[in-house]
Amino acid sequence: MEKKEIVLSGIRPTGHLHLGNYFGAVKNFVKMQETNECYFFIADYHSLTTHPHPDNLQGNVRQVLIEYLAAGLDPEKATLYLQSDIPETAELYLFLNMNAYLGELERVTTFKEKARKQPNNVNAGLLTYPTLMAADIIIQKAHKVPVGKDQEQNLEMTRTYARRFNHMYGVDFFPIPTAYNFGEELVKIPGLDGSGKMGKSEGEGNAIFLYEDPKSIRKKIMKAVTDSGPTEMNQPKPEPIQNLFTLLKVVSKPDVVEYFEEKYNNCTIRYGDLKKQLAEDVIAFTAPFAERIKELSADNEYILKVMDQGAEKARAHALETMREVRRIIGFRKIY
Ligand code: TYM
Repeated sequence: MEKKEIVLSGIRPTGHLHLGNYFGAVKNFVKMQETNECYFFIADYHSLTTHPHPDNLQGNVRQVLIEYLAAGLDPEKATLYLQSDIPETAELYLFLNMNAYLGELERVTTFKEKARKQPNNVNAGLLTYPTLMAADIIIQKAHKVPVGKDQEQNLEMTRTYARRFNHMYGVDFFPIPTAYNFGEELVKIPGLDGSGKMGKSEGEGNAIFLYEDPKSIRKKIMKAVTDSGPTEMNQPKPEPIQNLFTLLKVVSKPDVVEYFEEKYNNCTIRYGDLKKQLAEDVIAFTAPFAERIKELSADNEYILKVMDQGAEKARAHALETMREVRRIIGFRKIY
């Protein structure tokens, strides 16, 4: 029998899932669980780089798991787990750090961005974020990693570390994983503030969450940044306007997008109408998720069961890798 390709990805438990997480990552997870051996986890070790309070950490981990399930992940099809339930990941991280270099880690864009955002907390965990991420991925010997565009460079680093390990020990042990999206190109969902990407830490009003209620979605979208409108036929769209069209493309029907494209191109567009339509289509899209999030939140026992089941499966698989890794490096067999 042909062995299925292994798929793995993770999300940090730093808030609710938003449309960026969904279209950049989770939508692919839901598809891939049908055909592949899948591992999807909650990156709670990684969230320590921003020093969360223990109560918040636990609450957020539970919330992301609930939202994973509400988005359609099925614990019978994919292994769903917490990163910290596989402490051997930290052991592999240590090994990888011995062959990771300051220069290459300092050049990573997400490190530079985070160092700028939290200048008083540029900890070693932030710097070595890519080696921990590489450990997450290769400990399950993953081939494909569904992620959004912002994770592309981290994935490049993972490829480097997997290759370096293989090369250093003269083995063909770790697969070299690739960043993946069903639509071929990695996705970047923009925020509502006129620039950049949708994100949890990009400021109030920038992100739309799957759990969010219609009133709040309408308010955020109506407030989205626009300009005074096109003045020439077929003129290129400035970024804030392009962003609204990008959002429209993922939630609305093609003829709706076409209608507003035409209006833009012949300078008769009214952004108020565009926003109203976008808001209604976003609400229609998120409402079923919000409903399931509510239902699942009430079933604590089920959530705990999913965690336990996932931890057991994910750890057993990771341990197989780590036994080999310890042998290859030259350590004693201890598990
Ligand atoms: P995180 O928690 O920032 O985001 C989770 C996933 O959502 C995607 N994403 C987006 N995609 C498109 N447009 C956006 N605006 C947008 N915002 C977020 C991200 O690309 C990601 O796929 N480092 C990771 C977590 C991680 C991980 C891993 C991922 C830890 N170890 C191993 C894959 C494999 C992160 O911080 O994602």
